[in-house]
Amino acid sequence: MNKLCLLSLVVGLASQSAWAQTATTPASNLSTLQAKNAFISNLMKQMTLDEKIGQLRLISIGPEMPKPEIAKEIAAGRIGGTFNSVVLPDNRAMQDAAVLHSRNKIPMFFAYDVVHGQRTIFPISLGLASSFDMDAITRAGRVSAIEAAADGVDMTFAPMVDITRDARWGRSSEGFGEDTYLVSRISATMTRAFQGTSTQAPNSIMAAVKHFALYGAVEGGRDYNTVDMSPVRMQQDYLPPYRAAVDAGAGGVMVALNSINGVPSTANTWLLQDVLRKDWGFKGVTVSDHGAIKELIDHGVAKDFREAAKLAIKAGVDLSMNDKAYGEELPALVKSGEVSIKEVDNAVREVLGAKWEMGLFANPYLRIGAAVDDPVDRNAENRLHRAEAREVARKSIVLLKNANETLPLKKQGTIAVVGPLAKSSLDMLGSWSAAGLARQTVSAYDGLANAVGDKAKLVYAAGSNVTDNQEAITYLNKMDDQIHIDGRPEQEMIDEAVKVAQGADVVVAVVGESRNMSHEAASRVDLVLPGRQRDLIKALKATGKPLVIVLMNGRPLALGEENKQADALVESWFLGTEGGNALADVLFGDYNPSGKLPMTFPRSVGQVPAYYNHLNTGRPYRVNDSNYTSNYFEEPTSPLFPFGYGLSYTQFSVSDIVLSVNKMTRKDKITATVQVKNTGKVAGETVVQLYLRDVAASLSRPVKELKNFQKIMLKPGEEKAVSFTLTEEDLKFYNPSLKYAAEAGDFKLMIGLDSADVKETTFTLQ
Ligand code: BGC
Repeated sequence: MNKLCLLSLVVGLASQSAWAQTATTPASNLSTLQAKNAFISNLMKQMTLDEKIGQLRLISIGPEMPKPEIAKEIAAGRIGGTFNSVVLPDNRAMQDAAVLHSRNKIPMFFAYDVVHGQRTIFPISLGLASSFDMDAITRAGRVSAIEAAADGVDMTFAPMVDITRDARWGRSSEGFGEDTYLVSRISATMTRAFQGTSTQAPNSIMAAVKHFALYGAVEGGRDYNTVDMSPVRMQQDYLPPYRAAVDAGAGGVMVALNSINGVPSTANTWLLQDVLRKDWGFKGVTVSDHGAIKELIDHGVAKDFREAAKLAIKAGVDLSMNDKAYGEELPALVKSGEVSIKEVDNAVREVLGAKWEMGLFANPYLRIGAAVDDPVDRNAENRLHRAEAREVARKSIVLLKNANETLPLKKQGTIAVVGPLAKSSLDMLGSWSAAGLARQTVSAYDGLANAVGDKAKLVYAAGSNVTDNQEAITYLNKMDDQIHIDGRPEQEMIDEAVKVAQGADVVVAVVGESRNMSHEAASRVDLVLPGRQRDLIKALKATGKPLVIVLMNGRPLALGEENKQADALVESWFLGTEGGNALADVLFGDYNPSGKLPMTFPRSVGQVPAYYNHLNTGRPYRVNDSNYTSNYFEEPTSPLFPFGYGLSYTQFSVSDIVLSVNKMTRKDKITATVQVKNTGKVAGETVVQLYLRDVAASLSRPVKELKNFQKIMLKPGEEKAVSFTLTEEDLKFYNPSLKYAAEAGDFKLMIGLDSADVKETTFTLQ
C-alpha cells in the first residue's frame, strides 16, 4: 500500500468512527416507521430554523461554487444534498464536512441523473422501451444502481415517465414513449430496479420519478411550454406512469417545470398535495426541478423571489434545486407568519425521512465507503458491465423494413459504412449519459469492424455533416461543444461517399441526429433527417447498391423518403456503451431483432400529435371513403410506422382469438387466447399485444388501448398458445365525473404483433 492510500484509509476510517461516536445513530433494530419518526422528531427539536432551511437546499456541483466554499456551507448546515458529483473523494469530503463539522451532524445525500446507465450506458429510455422486455429493463436499472452507488450516489432523478405524443419535443428520448400502459409498467420496473431490495441497501439508489406532471404534453413540443389538458385525459393517460412509480415505492418525486392549466407544477397544491399525497398516499420527498422556484416569477404567478419561495413551500415542494429561494426567503417568511413553521417542518421531515430511507443516518458513508477501497482509476474498464449493455442494446433495436432479405448481411466482400454518425461514439451514448465516456463506447463503425474481423473489408466516408444549419449548431453547442463539422463543401462529401459506395457490395448508412438534438431544450420544427443527410441517402440509392439505413435518433422521425429508398431500415436509437457491437449483432444476424416501436412514427411533422390510442371522432378516416372525414388531404392519414411495430428475420402468424366466455360479469375473468407460430426459417422473439376498445361508453373511448403484452421466443415452425386474462379492472376508465369504473356493454378485443395489424373479436360486460 502506498503512502497516499494509507493516509486515505486512516482519514476514511477516522471519518466514519468519529461520526459514529458523535451522531445520534439509530440502532439497526430501530428500522421501523415508529423509530424513524421518533428519531426525526427528536433531531428536529435540536435544529434551529436556519438549520432546517439548510436541509431543503440541494445544490449542483459545478463551477458555480468552488469546493472549499461548499465544504464551508455544508459545515454551517446550509446544504442538505448535492447533485452532479460522482467522485468518491469529493463526496467523502462533503460528507465529512456534514457529519464531522456541522452542529447536528446530519448526513448529506448525493444525487445524479442516472437515467439509462451510470458508467456503462444502456440505450436511451425510448430504446429501452422498444425492448418491451421487463427483464432487460430490470437489468439496465440494476446495473445503473450498482454502478452509481459505487460512485457514492444515493439518489437518481429517474425514471423519467412523461408520456409524449409529440416527437418535436427533444425530451422524447428520455421517456418511454406514448403509451400509458407500457410506460407505467416500465416506470414500476425501473423504480424497483434502482431501489433493489431496499433503498437502504448499499447497492441501491433511491428513485425520484419525474417530471411531475404532464411535462411531455408541452404545447407544440416546445420545451418548457404550457400544458393545457382535460382532467379526464390527465387521469386516464398522463398521470398513471408517475403513480406506478409511487406505488412501486419511489422515494422521491421531481416536480415538473411546466404549468398545468395555468398553474405551474412548482406552485400546484392540487398536484402536490391532493393528487400526490392524499389520493396516492406518497410518503417520500419532493424536489423542484432546476431553478424552478425562481421561475414562478416568469410564469407570472409570483411577483418576486419571496413570493415564489412562499408558493413553492406551501404547495409542497420540499427540496429546492439549485436556487437560493428557500435559504434567502424562508427565514423572513416564517418570521412574518406568512409561512408557518409547520410548513417548513413538513418539508424538513420529508428530507430527513429520505435520508433515513437511503440508509444515511445508519451510515453516512454507506455508498461512499472507505478511501482505501476507492478504485485507483474510476474509469477503469473492469467497472463496466459490457455484456449486460450489449444484451439490452440489441433488444432495443427495431427493424422497420427489410426488402428482399437485405438483412442479415454476410460477413464477406466490401461493406461501405457511410454517414455522419457512423464513427461517432459520443453520439452513441445518447443524452443524459451520466458518467459514461465516449472513449469507452463502441461506434457503429467499430462494432461492424469487430464483427467482420478480416472476413470482410470495411470502407468509410462521412458523406455529410449531421446538419449544415449553422445557427442550429451554434445553439446546440452552447452547452457543450459536441457537433464537430467537417469543413469541406457538403457536395464534395457526398461525392466521396458515392465513390466509396460504388466500390462496395453493400452500403450501410448511419444517419440521424446528434445526441444533443434529442435532449432538453432541443425541440424541432421538423422531423426529417437534418442537413444534407437526405441528399446523401438519395445519392447512395442512385448507386444501385443494396442500401441499409441505420438510424440514430432520440425521437420518431418522418422517414417517408428514406423508407422508399432503403432496402433495409433499422431504428437503433442511441444504444449506449456497447452500441456498435449490438448493432453488428443485428445487422449480421447474430441476434434476430425483436424491438417494437414505443412511439408512432408519423409521415410528416404535420401529423403530430400522432398516437395510436386516439378517439374515433364522428367522422373517422376511412381508406376508400375519405371525403369529409377526419384526415389530411396531401398524404395518407395513417402513420408511417404504427406503435408496437417492428419486424424480425423470421415471420410469425397469429390465429383468430378464442375467448373463454363471450359475456362476463363483474366478478368473472375472461381469457383470450391466440396461437402464435414462427412460420419462417430462424428462431425469433416477438411481442404479442392485447388491445381493448369500449364500443359505447359515457364518453368517447380510444379506438384501441394496450392492456397487456407478452414477449415470446419461438423456434422455426414452433407454435405457442398465448393467453391473456382480463378482469373488470382492465375495463375501467375515468368517466366525465372522474369516477374510475367499468361500464356494462360491448368491448372489442384485439390481439396482434403491432397496434395496426390485429385480430379482433367482441365480448360483453354484463
Ligand atoms: C432537468 C431535470 C434534471 C435536472 C438536474 C433539469 O434541467 O429538467 O430532468 O434532473 O436538470 O440535472
